[in-house]
Amino acid sequence: MSDRYAQLINTPLGQLISKQVGLPRPVPLERHRPGQPVISGPVLLGAAEGSRLTPAVAEILAQVGAEVHTELREEVRAAAAGAGLQARVFNPETTAPGQSFKALVFDASGIRASDQLTQLFAFMQPTIRRVSACGRVIVLGTPPERAREPAEAVAQRALEGFVRSVAKEVRRGATAQLIYVAPRVEAQVASTLRFLLSPKSAYVSGQVVRVGAPVKGGLTRAQLAKLDWERPLEGRIALVTGAARGIGAAIAEVLARDGAHVVCLDLPAAADELEAVARGLGGSALICDITDRRSPELIATRLLEAHQGVDIVVHNAGITRDKTLARMTEEMWRAVLEVNLGAQQPIDDHLLERGAMHENGRIVCVSSISGIAGNAGQTNYATSKAGVIGRVHAYAPELAGRGVTINAVAPGFIETEMTRAMPIALREAGRRMNSLAQGGLPIDVAETVAWLASPASAGISGTVVRVCGQSMLGA
Ligand code: NAI
Repeated sequence: MSDRYAQLINTPLGQLISKQVGLPRPVPLERHRPGQPVISGPVLLGAAEGSRLTPAVAEILAQVGAEVHTELREEVRAAAAGAGLQARVFNPETTAPGQSFKALVFDASGIRASDQLTQLFAFMQPTIRRVSACGRVIVLGTPPERAREPAEAVAQRALEGFVRSVAKEVRRGATAQLIYVAPRVEAQVASTLRFLLSPKSAYVSGQVVRVGAPVKGGLTRAQLAKLDWERPLEGRIALVTGAARGIGAAIAEVLARDGAHVVCLDLPAAADELEAVARGLGGSALICDITDRRSPELIATRLLEAHQGVDIVVHNAGITRDKTLARMTEEMWRAVLEVNLGAQQPIDDHLLERGAMHENGRIVCVSSISGIAGNAGQTNYATSKAGVIGRVHAYAPELAGRGVTINAVAPGFIETEMTRAMPIALREAGRRMNSLAQGGLPIDVAETVAWLASPASAGISGTVVRVCGQSMLGA
């Protein structure tokens, strides 16, 4: 869908006016194309003293073939050399001002007290202006709840404020994120670091991701190093609900691109569109209404008979029936709660009870920033989407024992049929009220789902990732 404002503001005249009047200037975001490198430009790597994640990060940067520069600190240079990188040393005082970076990556895991946060400042302050268009700022740390001392927990928690602010300061499509990695599972950061460095995370900004111990069946360090990252889902079976159009169709396409056989599910009324989507990506179609009480059994039977089970379940089907609470009918309330929330659990329960969910399995639910921030006219929708977040938090511990992760994505303003139908003033506000000053595309949600669905993401569970360009709503 066309964003006329973004087109106009990026003409030479539009740029001049935006500068003088201070209008937001959304730049076209870089998006992933198959075969493209993870990162297409130099990466500057730095670390606080005594940090533990730098060798793992350097190894991943070497695996993606990144051009790496390091700060002067000996520990960082040694980690880069240990990973086989021919890294150049960056000195802010002597390196030409023209030297820009596609990513600044800082390992802050060594920071054990708040006075040591100065090391983060010392790395970022002289370099932040060197971040190029659609660049990345990534800080890594230790989850505060896993810190050894309260002072360390305080300092690690402080990183959130830094990253969320940098995400609001960087311009030209750049983003900033924080990755907390639990002790002794450093290698598990690979899928997350790759995703957040790459254009696949174009519309994800200001997020905090926790990487912990992998669930049963998760990939080991050696298996991670050998994974085909172009097709990480090769041989996997995925179920996507609401796949006939919009975000669901994009999710199905991206999972198929990454190697999965996708079973696309939608309502009988959408049968023709569904068949076309399934055919287009070499998957199969499953026509049913998820709110029908016979559907969980039908879905499990179909997946067991045709595919011996399933690896990835994406609960994407969703509806809106907007009205202020005073005007809302019980039917509108029930319909939304049932489709968006109530139908999900019986499907998961049935798949698990019948042993249809494979080890190192994935459940990814589509929530919404309305479920985080609330929204006038959407008490039913926001209730259902907040409930989805509750489901992710409540079931993650139990599912971990069964070798399954459960996570949610919370999209913000995404350019779809749904948002096209919004009144123009509301639509413009939704588009611009975020750090990237534009709406996201269905592919941005799909790429985020694919990252969480990857067999390499076994260390991420119970997480909600917003795909909203750091929307001001509910931030
Ligand atoms: P959409 O309306 O284009 O597609 C939803 C699909 O779900 C449709 O194909 C529909 O037939 C299917 N569906 C509805 N009820 C069903 C049922 N009972 N059984 C089986 N399939 C059913 O919606 P869109 O925009 O693609 O949204 C997808 C998901 O993303 C939804 O959960 C929505 O709430 C969520 N979302 C969308 C945002 C946006 O900006 N478009 C923002 C935040 C969240």
